[in-house]
Amino acid sequence: MYRTHTCNALNEKHVGMEVTLSGWVKSRRDHGGLIFVDLRDRYGMTQIVADPTHARQAHALLDQVRPEYVIRVTGKVRPRPKGSENTKLKTGIVEIICDNVDILNESKTPPFEIDRDDIENEELRLKYRYLDLRRDRMKRNLEVRHRTIKFIRDFLDREGFLEIETPILIKGTPEGSREYLVPSRLHPGKFYVLPQSPQQLKQLSMIAGLDKYFQIARCFRDEDQRGDRQPEFTQLDLEMSFVDEKDVMDINEALMIALCEAVAPNKKIIKKPFPRITWSEAMNRYGSDKPDMRFGMELLDGTEIFKSSGFKVFADATAKGGVVKMLHVPGGAKFPRSKIDELTELAKVYGAKGLAYITQENNELKSPILKFLNEKEIAAFKKASAIKNGDTVFFTADEFITACTSLGHVRLACGDEFKLRDPNAFAFLWVVDFPMFEWSKEENCITAAHHPFCSIKVEDIPLLEKEPLKARAKAYDFVLNGVEVGGGSIRIHKQNVQAKIFDILGISKEDAKRRFGHMLEAFTYGAPPHGGIAWGLDRLVMIFCDEPNIREVIAFPKDQKARDLMLDAPSEMPEKQITEMHIKTILLKKS
Ligand code: AMO
Ligand code: AMP
Repeated sequence: MYRTHTCNALNEKHVGMEVTLSGWVKSRRDHGGLIFVDLRDRYGMTQIVADPTHARQAHALLDQVRPEYVIRVTGKVRPRPKGSENTKLKTGIVEIICDNVDILNESKTPPFEIDRDDIENEELRLKYRYLDLRRDRMKRNLEVRHRTIKFIRDFLDREGFLEIETPILIKGTPEGSREYLVPSRLHPGKFYVLPQSPQQLKQLSMIAGLDKYFQIARCFRDEDQRGDRQPEFTQLDLEMSFVDEKDVMDINEALMIALCEAVAPNKKIIKKPFPRITWSEAMNRYGSDKPDMRFGMELLDGTEIFKSSGFKVFADATAKGGVVKMLHVPGGAKFPRSKIDELTELAKVYGAKGLAYITQENNELKSPILKFLNEKEIAAFKKASAIKNGDTVFFTADEFITACTSLGHVRLACGDEFKLRDPNAFAFLWVVDFPMFEWSKEENCITAAHHPFCSIKVEDIPLLEKEPLKARAKAYDFVLNGVEVGGGSIRIHKQNVQAKIFDILGISKEDAKRRFGHMLEAFTYGAPPHGGIAWGLDRLVMIFCDEPNIREVIAFPKDQKARDLMLDAPSEMPEKQITEMHIKTILLKKS
């Protein structure tokens, strides 16, 4: 028998009991004769003592062990001597006086100290992930992840959802990201595609009459990596028949509230029911389609005030149909020049041409742009902004999305500066009525803002002919503390409407048939009205765990270059295997 208890189980109630524990040597200390070993397993840690006068052989063996050796220990539980208890540990009142020791396996010296929380070399952590995962923090994160998924499964089961597995080897789905390809051996020159999400399959499940579907689904996207993105990640994917937007949002909101209470009880949900605001309101008030509502500091509109301003930057922007947005930062007058420069650079990253500002001190406005403004503008500005002594108001003048987005990032930076983003507060909201399409500057064409299967708001259908960019989708995003944790929509369920959307997106009839013929055909066999959502589970668990990066809540993540450093993937393959796939690799020189 390897163990009678885990390393987190023993306390004063077990004193006098003979026990056996197995685990890893966390540390070994030699105190003139007595040897102390901290023995660790997934559950916790227990102190082992070897006394040569009590058990000579056990003492001799413990003398040999090094950190991360795997050992089995048998002995009696006894109270620790007065003064040497560790009340922070669940087992900190007791220790085991060792009778027998077996060394089950040795260990090389680990490449980093396992019980330190500040290991900076991430490459090393990922290469030796199995050692990294021995750390308490990582084990805690994986536990939260497990409890999250378990809670979701149980909740949705009670609500009558079926968990349905959809295939991983599929045909491409148009959700905006580059896809991972898998060559086919049996069909020379043909490829499978790994799903960016189970979008089409969950819709086909609704056409099948399965009514309420969910899946803890692995998704694959070959996109550039960031802190909140991975090339493979996990969604809670969900779809329902005979629903409108409210039905989908309501059940997801109920699930989220119950989940937070169960898994993150230390977090305070600021507002219930969750606010629901439109995309244009979110952009106007917060400069973001995923606003952080833990603090106010809302953007204001100065377009009317400055439309015929003497400050050309403002007048020109409004003349071109753009806007002037303002951000009132109480206490901002204390920002040194360097901070203003930093905020200006930040605004420029998001496309702003500059960041004008006005401060007030001793009842006097100060600003390099003041000389261009007339008395009427200044009076209107004072009234609209409610600027007070010690405050600053920042301005961006540009086309709507650029002006809002860049000032939105300045807002977040000011929120950080004044510590307004409370890590223990949860501000959820729904952002609804997203635009159906957007203009892609890179590709110089119209693209689907979310994906091409979203329904259009009924009142916007007439816009499809002439002004599709103004049409809004029945789409909603689920936002938590400024992070998009989910997104979904009510879908198109009529073949002719779906064909029209493909047409607007510039997908020819032949192309639509080749790529999505299966969907278009399925719609002709009685597709019910349906809709759904997908949550980014990694992002959500990351926030539950107060982690800055989703890699910390994924057992075996990829690095920032999409590599698995532990397995060394991707890697070259033997020529034979590649030839079998009817493939020849030619490495093109990067230009
Ligand atoms: P979407 O593409 O918005 O929607 O994805 C849903 C949620 O998944 C998370 N997410 C990611 N998480 C980690 N790494 C990534 N690379 C990544 N990409 C997305 C986000 C996002 O909100 N089929 C639709 C859903 C639907 O319409 O039902 C979809 O996949 O938190
Ligand atoms: P300039 O006249 O270019 O020296 O700009 C004067 C001030 O206006 C500087 O603080 C700039 O950062 C700011 N500024 C320039 N362009 C814009 C713009 N489009 N929106 C807001 N402020 C701007």
